[in-house]
Amino acid sequence: MKEFVLRTKITQFSTVEEFAQSLELTGQDLILTSQFLTASLQVPQFSDVPRMIAEDYGRGEPTDRQIDAMRRDLPQNVRRLIAVGGGTIIDIAKFLTLDYPGTLDDCLSGNDEFTQGRELIVVPTTCGTGSEVTNVAITELTKRKTKKGLADDRLYPAQAVLIPQLIRSLPYQVFATSSIDALIHAVESFLSPQATVYSQLFSTAAIRLILSGYQKTAANGKESWCEQAEDFLLASNYAGIAFGNAGCAAVHALSYPLGGVYHIPHGEANQLLFEAVCRKYEQLEPEGRLTDLKHLLSEILQVPADQSLDALFTLMNTILKRRPLCEYGIRRDELEGFADSVIEGQQRLLKNNCVPLSKADMLAIYESIYNQ
Ligand SMILES: [Fe+2]
Repeated sequence: MKEFVLRTKITQFSTVEEFAQSLELTGQDLILTSQFLTASLQVPQFSDVPRMIAEDYGRGEPTDRQIDAMRRDLPQNVRRLIAVGGGTIIDIAKFLTLDYPGTLDDCLSGNDEFTQGRELIVVPTTCGTGSEVTNVAITELTKRKTKKGLADDRLYPAQAVLIPQLIRSLPYQVFATSSIDALIHAVESFLSPQATVYSQLFSTAAIRLILSGYQKTAANGKESWCEQAEDFLLASNYAGIAFGNAGCAAVHALSYPLGGVYHIPHGEANQLLFEAVCRKYEQLEPEGRLTDLKHLLSEILQVPADQSLDALFTLMNTILKRRPLCEYGIRRDELEGFADSVIEGQQRLLKNNCVPLSKADMLAIYESIYNQ
């Protein structure tokens, strides 16, 4: 069976104030955001709405301990969360919509049943996550030193709110890592065996928008990216719709130990693996699904199909230079353990690989990017 689902209402506003005016706010609302975004939310409508600031509970990407502490402080009467932020904020908010008796670790281990306790409105403030339209949330499990995703229809946000004005002021590094994440969502969902003609419409549109934005950025200078802010935000949303249906795959799976153990930011960790995973697919199945991707890239980047992957990785490297794993302090003798943890914990993603990868293949991928 093939299906395509889009459960989240998608809205676009010019300003935060216009968005705030559209909400029928009650005493049961709560805003979840980051400290640095609070200035953007200073509109009269939000002045009485209680807030939780994620950094008060922990820095960096979400952990189960941080989310458990926030659950303890979440006022009992809250029935609607308004999450304003990047992937970290959105993932925390998704977990906070759920009710369960024990810890998040218990819940994700399948020991506790959960129910949906509150509704979620999401305002993404980066151009990468796509999480505003998916039913997936991801957290680090501190004791296990890895990341784990939960995919469940109760995690779909009720509403996704796109406000391009909010992302124009992103620091370049955040733009680069988040848009690369979106590009990888688009490519992994394009290649996925779960892809449908509908999901591929969104994957393809996202790839086109991001690569043409990168070409303009490469030609006009780094800071010119914000002239394409709306396109990058839309592309991220398209890619979210695509991977929400067709899934992400080996790039995301293999990057999780790098995020979980070495806290490499999600988009950057994905870029470390992206080229090596594509090259492995190419080596194992030269005439497989990758051929369709090469033809699409060839058309967008205006190069012959057999040079299109080279052109893609060269362009991505101008946006964010990929560094070898050894520069992050990773030891070579850890790589086999990474492959084992991926096989043990990331089957949700590995089932979407366009070519099955063995443990030896995964180890070869890590080895190939260790020194170069
Ligand atoms: Fe991602």
